[in-house]
Amino acid sequence: MAKDKTQYTCNECGGTSPKWLGKCPHCNAWNTLIESVAESPSAPAKNRFASLAKTAEVTTLADIDATDVQRTPTGHDELDRVLGGGIVEGGVVLIGGDPGIGKSTLLLQALDALQRSGQKTLYVTGEESGAQVALRSRRLGLDGSQVSVLAEIQLEKILATLAHTQPAIAVIDSIQTVYSEQLTSAPGSVAQVRECAAHLTRAAKASGTAIVLVGHVTKEGALAGPRVLEHMVDTVLYFEGDTHSSFRLIRAIKNRFGAVNEIGVFAMTERGLKGVSNPSAIFLSQHSEPVPGSCVMVTLEGTRPMLVEIQALVDSGGPSPRRLSVGLDRDRLAMLLAVLHRHAGVACMDQDVFVNAVGGVRISEPAADLAVMLAITSSLRGKALPKGFIAFGEVGLAGEVRPAPRGQERLKEAAKLGFSVAVVPKANAPKKNDKAFEGLTIHAVERIEEAMSLVRQLAD
Ligand code: TYD
Ligand code: MG
Repeated sequence: MAKDKTQYTCNECGGTSPKWLGKCPHCNAWNTLIESVAESPSAPAKNRFASLAKTAEVTTLADIDATDVQRTPTGHDELDRVLGGGIVEGGVVLIGGDPGIGKSTLLLQALDALQRSGQKTLYVTGEESGAQVALRSRRLGLDGSQVSVLAEIQLEKILATLAHTQPAIAVIDSIQTVYSEQLTSAPGSVAQVRECAAHLTRAAKASGTAIVLVGHVTKEGALAGPRVLEHMVDTVLYFEGDTHSSFRLIRAIKNRFGAVNEIGVFAMTERGLKGVSNPSAIFLSQHSEPVPGSCVMVTLEGTRPMLVEIQALVDSGGPSPRRLSVGLDRDRLAMLLAVLHRHAGVACMDQDVFVNAVGGVRISEPAADLAVMLAITSSLRGKALPKGFIAFGEVGLAGEVRPAPRGQERLKEAAKLGFSVAVVPKANAPKKNDKAFEGLTIHAVERIEEAMSLVRQLAD
């Protein structure tokens, strides 16, 4: 077969060049040319379109036979939860995360469970040797595992193996190690990652094999190849969590076959990752008495409410005080500090402010606002919030406290775990008495200054 020609395409304007240049000759942008495979048109464009139109088939939606997608559970409930019920035939999943967080471990466990349930599986390893994978499987207690392993990084060979063995599910660990001989760029480069993922995606759709691509996250937090893969695949999952703690979260960022923002919670144990089916209280630190600067909130990630402790430390800073956040958005922190100053008269101008969501969990919803502000004020005053206290609610720039979605569910979870005082947005307060809220005194607030004075009264 004649080798396909490669060319360089500009990321900005789409212009092409036969050789690599630092500056795009079309739009003059720097460093935007990326290697790609040139497709040579075989016939003049006009004729080609005319002949293609005859062969392409157009049908109405009603005529398309669409049965609900078949899902195969992986045998790991928490993984199935983020996948939306299990793996889907021909579906492509991208799973990203920091090195060492447990991607290979989890996928090997899932493959083994699938293999044992009678599915044909293939684990393609580009980072470790077959022996290393085998060693891990022994460590995981997967004795006598029948998972097929292929240690290969060349795309064409991987595709040939997939076509030959026709597994139900294949894991490519990792996409950054795979290279196509059609391109001269190094494995892991944007061009290679994009090209290889595109070929594998096409193979998945054509053969019905579900493919899981493992991707590394770069230092900037993006999957290598500036998020080039996210739009190609059906499902994007990210591993989160602190490698120092044993808890790991998997979050669905995109899912064509299920809900997004669903999370699965795992604990890393001696024998691999184990699902945590009732994670609501794992993100609380274990103080016996309340301490200043700590406020518990109820976050609703996906379909499950979870209690997460927000900690703040306000300490006198230098000439340019720092605002740092772990697990929460830093820009939002700056905004909340401004709202706190303007509407509640709490000034932290000359103070360093640090906030942290306990346990390495990342909270993206604005419902954390109220808890963040209460934790900051509590640290500034050196006064702890009352025992058994929770708060949630979004705070707007005008100082208004806005409702969080599905507030009642959050309150029920807090009541279930024995919390006794809640400060929540007015619209989230239950209208009628319900047994589920028993033991929980609920205070409804409309404005941040109201919340502040209420908390001061409660603490005295
Ligand atoms: P790994 O799956 O290799 O991470 P990734 O593929 O995301 O880079 O995870 C490796 C880490 O998990 C490593 O630090 C050791 C730890 N680990 C356990 O704690 N228990 C186990 O049973 C296994 C296999 C790994
Ligand atoms: Mg790995």
